[in-house]
Amino acid sequence: MAKMPMGNPTYLRGQIRERKRIGSLYHRLRISLPQPIGPVLPGQFAMLKIEGGGSIILPRPFSIHNFEEGERVPWLDFLFKVVGKGTGLLAEISVGSPIMVLAPLGKGFPAPPRGYKPLFIAGGMGIAPLFPLIMRMKSSSSPLCLLYGAKSQGDLICLSELLDLKEITIKIATEDGTAGTKGMVTELLKGDDDDGGDQIVIYACGPEPMLRAVSKFAAEHKKPCWISLERRMACGVGACLGCVVETKRGYKRVCREGPIFEAREILW
Ligand SMILES: Cc1cc2nc3c(=O)[nH]c(=O)nc-3n(C[C@H](O)[C@H](O)[C@H](O)COP(=O)(O)OP(=O)(O)OC[C@H]3O[C@@H](n4cnc5c(N)ncnc54)[C@H](O)[C@@H]3O)c2cc1C
Ligand code: FES
Repeated sequence: MAKMPMGNPTYLRGQIRERKRIGSLYHRLRISLPQPIGPVLPGQFAMLKIEGGGSIILPRPFSIHNFEEGERVPWLDFLFKVVGKGTGLLAEISVGSPIMVLAPLGKGFPAPPRGYKPLFIAGGMGIAPLFPLIMRMKSSSSPLCLLYGAKSQGDLICLSELLDLKEITIKIATEDGTAGTKGMVTELLKGDDDDGGDQIVIYACGPEPMLRAVSKFAAEHKKPCWISLERRMACGVGACLGCVVETKRGYKRVCREGPIFEAREILW
């Protein structure tokens, strides 16, 4: 796998430039940075430190969902779902508010090996780190395919932007059958068994049971597969050991050695 250059993490006081509600549960934030950071790789994340209700709560990790390509990145986009106090505060934050940002963190997705076609598999919010990867790869000559699954049609965030891309084939699954095939996104893999002899590399992000199923598929079909893992994180920089995952090479910190891991390395 080709390596891409990585930027050093920088701790900055950013400013909310845009906040957009997507449906009832999802939000997109654009944070402008007082000085550019970079380069940023798809798959890397940031720790966002949120102030609210007179208190500052622990930083929370979020995948970098979009950014301006280049050595010096002036803003970062995040896509998130409200699940608790931190994301609840983020959902209410006003445009113009300050926010502390530590980024870019962790390792990004590696580029595909020469001659391999990428297959992206997203479950729900898992689209967040795959979106910039798709954007980066859409200019390559290789055809792109995305298997995108969610609970319901309204949870297929980013779908309209993705459907605008002519470079990618999208197959959809929803658990309630409101869009695409009814069932889990991994059901779509059954139809993808026959790759016509092409070499395929899988990039996946989503709930852990989905990642486990994708990893099993990749192992059985001998496909290289990169997954983005999530753990609760306190520091985000490798100091607290609170985010470890067991791998064939011992315990690894998701914030430092991940969040992108080769699927076959993980002891599920
Ligand atoms: C590398 C990384 C990238 C992430 N990217 C995104 C993203 O792009 N968009 C997004 O919406 N979320 C993302 N998450 C998850 C996000 O960090 C949590 O949803 C957030 O920290 C919850 O904070 P809270 O205060 O709202 O919830 P809490 O009140 O802290 O928790 C509410 C619920 O969320 C669960 N939870 C909290 N943190 C995590 C976590 N790190 N992983 C899994 N479950 C968690 C808790 O177990 C609990 O059930 C990412 C997590 C990691 C580790
Ligand atoms: S969050 Fe502290 S080591 Fe990963």
